[in-house]
Amino acid sequence: MDVAARPAPEVVAAFEAAKGFMPADEGMALYAAARDAARLGLPLLEIGTYCGRSTILLADAARRADGDVTVLTLDHHRGSEEQQPGWEYHDPSLVDPEVGLMDTLPFFRRTLHAAGLEEYVVALVGRSPRAASVWGGRLGLVFVDGGHTDEHARADYEGWVPHLAEGGLLVIHDVFPDPADGGQAPHRIHRRALESGAFAEECAVRSLRVLRRTGPGL
Ligand SMILES: C[S@@+](CC[C@H](N)C(=O)[O-])C[C@H]1O[C@@H](n2cnc3c(N)ncnc32)[C@H](O)[C@@H]1O
Repeated sequence: MDVAARPAPEVVAAFEAAKGFMPADEGMALYAAARDAARLGLPLLEIGTYCGRSTILLADAARRADGDVTVLTLDHHRGSEEQQPGWEYHDPSLVDPEVGLMDTLPFFRRTLHAAGLEEYVVALVGRSPRAASVWGGRLGLVFVDGGHTDEHARADYEGWVPHLAEGGLLVIHDVFPDPADGGQAPHRIHRRALESGAFAEECAVRSLRVLRRTGPGL
């Protein structure tokens, strides 16, 4: 993986302008992973679209791939637990006033349109386990950034990682080995991947981890 791979300045500007939770240094590591994984010519999957901030980086990696590579980005667009009203990461501007629930889908669509990257992305709208239950293809990259409870992180791992091709990359966000820094569910699936013997760690940037599938297993 070429950790120095960087998007063009206009892509970085679009990423920085988008609403979302991915800091720049972690974003650049995600981008480098996506450029590497795109060489397999398989779809790149993101679990947790939110408003499309990280999707921009995956989409640019797909655009710059030699073959035809598609980004799949999955979200029910109703927000995670910590994004609901009264919680730390709630943004009231993302509530649909008619329905009274969060709806990040229109914001995601504007983000991708503004970045000129709609062509490379297929949005899957629904719950991760349901989408995984009907998915049959192989994937070049699985980026886990959806629900951060144990139930959600485990379902993302067990639902999607079996589809990750050998040589493909598993990227996990918000891995905090010290509970004082954040929730432990992403850390637990990161540890599980390493202990499975099916992955080798490729790089770590703050809370982002990139692992390469080196063999079969979960
Ligand atoms: C942390 S945000 C994603 C941030 C985004 N990757 C970024 O960098 O800006 C998590 C997202 O996962 C979605 N989500 C949570 N649990 C989910 C589930 N079980 N299925 C689908 N989406 C889910 C939420 O709606 C939320 O938009």
